[in-house]
Amino acid sequence: MDKLYYSVYFFLLLLPHVILCIADGASIFNISTVPFTQGFSPLFGEPNIKPSTDDQSVRLHLNQYTGSGFKSSDLYNHGFFSAKMKLPSDYTAGIVVAFYTTNGDIFRKTHDELDFEFLGNIKGKAWRFQTNMYGNGSTNRGREERFYLPFDPSKEFHTYSILWTTNNIIFYIDDIPIREIVRNDAMGGDFPSKPMALYATIWDASDWATSGGKYKANYKYAPFVAEFTDLVLHGCTMDPLQEVVDTGCEEKNNQLASADFASITPRQKLAMKRFRSKYTYYSYCYDTLRYPVPPPECVIDPVEKQRFKDTGRLKFDEKHHHRRRGIGEWYVGGGIEVVISGGG
Ligand SMILES: *[C@@H]1O[C@H](CO)[C@@H](O)[C@H](O)[C@H]1NC(C)=O
Ligand SMILES: *[C@@H]1O[C@H](CO)[C@@H](O)[C@H](O)[C@H]1NC(C)=O
Repeated sequence: MDKLYYSVYFFLLLLPHVILCIADGASIFNISTVPFTQGFSPLFGEPNIKPSTDDQSVRLHLNQYTGSGFKSSDLYNHGFFSAKMKLPSDYTAGIVVAFYTTNGDIFRKTHDELDFEFLGNIKGKAWRFQTNMYGNGSTNRGREERFYLPFDPSKEFHTYSILWTTNNIIFYIDDIPIREIVRNDAMGGDFPSKPMALYATIWDASDWATSGGKYKANYKYAPFVAEFTDLVLHGCTMDPLQEVVDTGCEEKNNQLASADFASITPRQKLAMKRFRSKYTYYSYCYDTLRYPVPPPECVIDPVEKQRFKDTGRLKFDEKHHHRRRGIGEWYVGGGIEVVISGGG
């Protein structure tokens, strides 16, 4: 191998670190981060919530006695929510780590919710996660999409973000948008519209999480630890006790809607398409058994549709292929997959 080859090779290896260093002290979206105790309160399992001494990070533990969780102290009338997360390693079947926004404790029958849920794992397999949306209590109209992760999320930190504007919702992994929901009138209240808080939890979901409950939590591997840092709470805060949603947030919501991360560039659109075509293994939009008429926000791509059965699941599940994918193929700052042959 000649010198040039090595330079390119090492540049590619270092690329994620270079970009992370530039963003030090802020999220990758250049928004200031919030110290844990300043922005958040315990939700449950308080002894299992372990903030770092500098208050920039927090660890959530799950042991045989309890899981744990925290929530933002404020509610937000639209916003951008983000964290760098590292998930529990080794055998984590049955363990769910959730990162989500909701107002379920205030609006019990008409709640709104946006979720990332990581579904536990068995060592050596590709991690799976799902995203979902509920609006105004639409709990009988789940909008799950399930994906494999292209990297091992227990090995290093990655950034997971939820953008929620009056017009769209974007789920991000690092700087790659992996799902966008654009609001339209036909969705009515199904598009979240009431103030929500940000939550993060770890809990035992042995009944359903991993391969439909086939693999259960095994406390021989406890405690299960999820680590969060670079927490971002960016939006128009609301008084939780204020019943009526006022219009004081209009200016902030306009700013939010015009932020870089609120619209998808052509380059990101391509990255999103590539991610979705490689890693989606279930989409409610193609689940015609459940939704003979796809919900109004679904954009049906006829070519993509052919890859899914009428259960919304992939016809040919390529999980064996994904299992071998290395972290070297995922870059913060592009998510571009570069295969370096002979690179070791
Ligand atoms: C990040 O944001 C700060 C303040 O909002 C700004 O001064 C700075 O130029 C931004 N950095 C980048 C790389 O965009
Ligand atoms: C939300 O649900 C409530 C109760 O079902 C209903 O009265 C209200 O009109 C709905 N709001 C929207 C925006 O659809």
